[in-house]
Amino acid sequence: MTEHRTQHPAHSEDGRSFTVPDAAGTPFIAGTLLLVSTPSGRQLALVEEREQSVDGGPEALRGRLLGTVEGARFDPRGGGPFVAAEVELADAETLDLVHTAMGAALEVGVNLSPPMRPARLLAHRFNRHTFWCGQSGSGKTYALGVVLEQLIAHTALPIVVFDPNSDFVRLGELNADASGPTAELLRQRDIRVLRPNTAGTDPLRARFTSMTMEAKAAVLRLDPVVDREEFNAVVHLSDSFSSIETHELLPELLGSDDRARRALGLRIENMGLLKWEVWAGHDRDATSVIDERADATVLDLGGFSTPDQHLVVALSVLDELWARREERRPVLLVIDEAHNLCSPTLTSPLAVAVRERLVQIAAEGRKFGLWLLLSTQRPSKVAPGIISQCDNLALMKMSSPVDLEGLATYFGYAPTALIARSPWFRQGEALFAGGFVPAPTLLSMNARLTPEGGSDVGVPLR
Ligand SMILES: Nc1ncnc2c1ncn2[C@@H]1O[C@H](COP(=O)(O)OP(=O)(O)OP(=O)(O)O)[C@@H](O)[C@H]1O
Ligand SMILES: [Mg+2]
Repeated sequence: MTEHRTQHPAHSEDGRSFTVPDAAGTPFIAGTLLLVSTPSGRQLALVEEREQSVDGGPEALRGRLLGTVEGARFDPRGGGPFVAAEVELADAETLDLVHTAMGAALEVGVNLSPPMRPARLLAHRFNRHTFWCGQSGSGKTYALGVVLEQLIAHTALPIVVFDPNSDFVRLGELNADASGPTAELLRQRDIRVLRPNTAGTDPLRARFTSMTMEAKAAVLRLDPVVDREEFNAVVHLSDSFSSIETHELLPELLGSDDRARRALGLRIENMGLLKWEVWAGHDRDATSVIDERADATVLDLGGFSTPDQHLVVALSVLDELWARREERRPVLLVIDEAHNLCSPTLTSPLAVAVRERLVQIAAEGRKFGLWLLLSTQRPSKVAPGIISQCDNLALMKMSSPVDLEGLATYFGYAPTALIARSPWFRQGEALFAGGFVPAPTLLSMNARLTPEGGSDVGVPLR
């Protein structure tokens, strides 16, 4: 690519951004990494857009400067301004050097821009919230699995997966053809899978007595104003509800002379609450399993016999983590199909309680080590208060122009021209931007090492 050197000088007034005013004849498009040779040394640069100037002149390149490259050293604090510097395509050695210098070690795919090097993530930057989106079938769940495998194998960060479709229930197994260092490490990891109805594996349970007063009221669908008498009965019975199992309490409530208590008893009976399989009874509840901090704990939320029960698990787990936030024990909370738990349109008291807890964790959890990774099909399906707190973005194929426009405003750190490529992504292709990548990157995800759980149902053929 050296033939492009002298014809296409770049300049930078601020040492942060750069322009190549005449890019005619170069193959450089948005997403390309360049090396800029300035009189004071070389700088790594990312092309963020390539566009025709307004007066119909030649196509120009614009982008950001990522840092200086001096021999075997990369310094992300960057260099200074320059005029008329030569640009060339960054070579493979430089990209590997940048990854090493920045601690990007989790290999998750292959960069789609030349020179097609491995794409790597910075494990230590999962100490932020991550937003992952793409339309149905774009490959979110598959790709999420690739990232989780890397995190589980190469970090000591405990992961809790909220899995609504049983997609991750086989995360503890390896594909027959899986080999290499990551597969070897995965083999040694402690991965727990909790399922609603199981023979042989740990059950997914919650304990009513351990839930907060607010959470109990939400389970009972009680509103403090609309249902003030029953709500008040729960307040006065909070000691009993915290120590006595509900099935023992129920006869007492039903036989009570107090109108509100009796109404509460009828409510519990009418809701069929005691028949919910989610209650722990003699089993261990999910919070105590998570407390053991296995490398990964998968909560299979999909298989309960009635709706709402998955919300009980989610709320009890999130409340407990929040209540113990001062312990500052890091955990990554991965929520696939996040709209189930944090859509702005959810209205039932239980769903609202889960969403509001997630909004709070998004806003304040970071410093306590409560980090979110949320995956969904459309940004509008997740409460805005959560999205705006996400410092990492993974975007897969998304054809809706409205959704893409929304993303560009939320994620200023993701170049607009790269977001605009999303409708043309193939399955498994993604844009990663934010702190967890050395620079905004278009990539094709690697293959999974662990089997997928509930994959698509095929059309029966004759
Ligand atoms: N990179 C990939 N390589 C091979 N197969 C893939 C890849 N990505 C996805 N698939 C396959 O495509 C199908 C859909 O992928 P996936 O379930 O990950 O999509 P999704 O974006 O999570 O969709 P939804 O929003 O409906 O959950 C799956 O059967 C999966 O096995
Ligand atoms: Mg999915």
